[in-house]
Amino acid sequence: MASAKNSARQRAAPTLPFTALPPTEVFAVEDTVVQFTWRSLSGGSLGCKVHHRSGMEAIELGDVGACGAVDIEGFVAGTETTIDVEVDGRPIAQHEVSTLDALAGPPIAKIATVSDLHLGADGFGLIRQLREPNGVEPYPLRCAKAAVREAQAWGAELLVIKGDITELGMPDEWDLFDELLDDVHIPVLAVPGNHDTAAKRGALDAATELRRRNLFPEPVAATDIGGVTLVMADSTVPGRNHGRLGRSAEQLAQAVDCGQPAIIFTHHHLEPRTYPTIWPPGIRKSDTADLLPALFEANPDLVISSGHTHRNRAYRHATGLITEVSATKDYPGVWAGYTIHTSGLRQAVRRVAEPTCAAWNDRTHAVVGGIWGRWSPGRITDRSLNHAWTRTYPSTKPTGQVAASN
Ligand SMILES: [Fe+2]
Ligand SMILES: [Fe+2]
Repeated sequence: MASAKNSARQRAAPTLPFTALPPTEVFAVEDTVVQFTWRSLSGGSLGCKVHHRSGMEAIELGDVGACGAVDIEGFVAGTETTIDVEVDGRPIAQHEVSTLDALAGPPIAKIATVSDLHLGADGFGLIRQLREPNGVEPYPLRCAKAAVREAQAWGAELLVIKGDITELGMPDEWDLFDELLDDVHIPVLAVPGNHDTAAKRGALDAATELRRRNLFPEPVAATDIGGVTLVMADSTVPGRNHGRLGRSAEQLAQAVDCGQPAIIFTHHHLEPRTYPTIWPPGIRKSDTADLLPALFEANPDLVISSGHTHRNRAYRHATGLITEVSATKDYPGVWAGYTIHTSGLRQAVRRVAEPTCAAWNDRTHAVVGGIWGRWSPGRITDRSLNHAWTRTYPSTKPTGQVAASN
């Protein structure tokens, strides 16, 4: 692992001047916890002074290495706090942090999502690909393993995988997926992505592979986890990059018409404009023009979350919420945690903290001259947010079954 970190330091790609990233950042906030990240620290002992209203708390993180992340606890919900960052007692940065409000009512569930694992990929970049040397655990598997390990340590009770599990759907890539599932000790739900259904010669059928692992019962599959319904929706079109959901309108409307909050997880993002403005292509607006009004009429407390764009974005739609969450294995390299209460939902997208993963993901910020590193993370409000349901729901006991993890 050390060689991967060293390589990441040695082979930094050139970037444009305005794309430089700050050495420290508050990447995620919840109500009482924030994720603090760092990069390119040349050494020394890292410390923070957290200026709570009740007084200052000094936190020593020690000699942390070049890249990494840590959760800092003890914040007060819905407050603003200043964090002073020091290396060897020397101030290097100051952050103003606004924690999210506490969600009212009892919690229903904690679930985590990952997407765009691209198991089997060996390089990242548009023109000149960034790669790692042979002899280290390949970064897609390494980052995916670290993401699910960190999500489970956070307390996730269920893992959702939103597609692009493999790079090309090849048999050895599905073997890597089995290796990942060996590290998952909570139930798993999954949908394929366009890379899993790219229809390359020698590739396996993604739906068959997921069904074989009890992860994908139907193209639209609803699971009740006791107060919230999780709807897994297959958006793939075999051999094509773009996605479709309109063909499943009837099943989706039935699935979300459940009298309680619902979350649709799918691979492709919903294009908000008539013509696509970014790469890769998602689900055309024409495909969802009739679908979205029907879904939000069936359930005003609906959240739709996708992957595919490898970026973080969030916006409100009608009474609901639509989010895109970035990949595990390129900058910023994340997983998402959803804390669901009877009154609403909190999304917190965290960077994968394992140091060799953080080092690889940091290195990939340099793609497109560094513009990737400014574009893909989104704003903190795209990553960390509360979303209130239109009413408070009763807490119920689980009535559904979720698939075994392997
Ligand atoms: Fe992807
Ligand atoms: Fe994709």
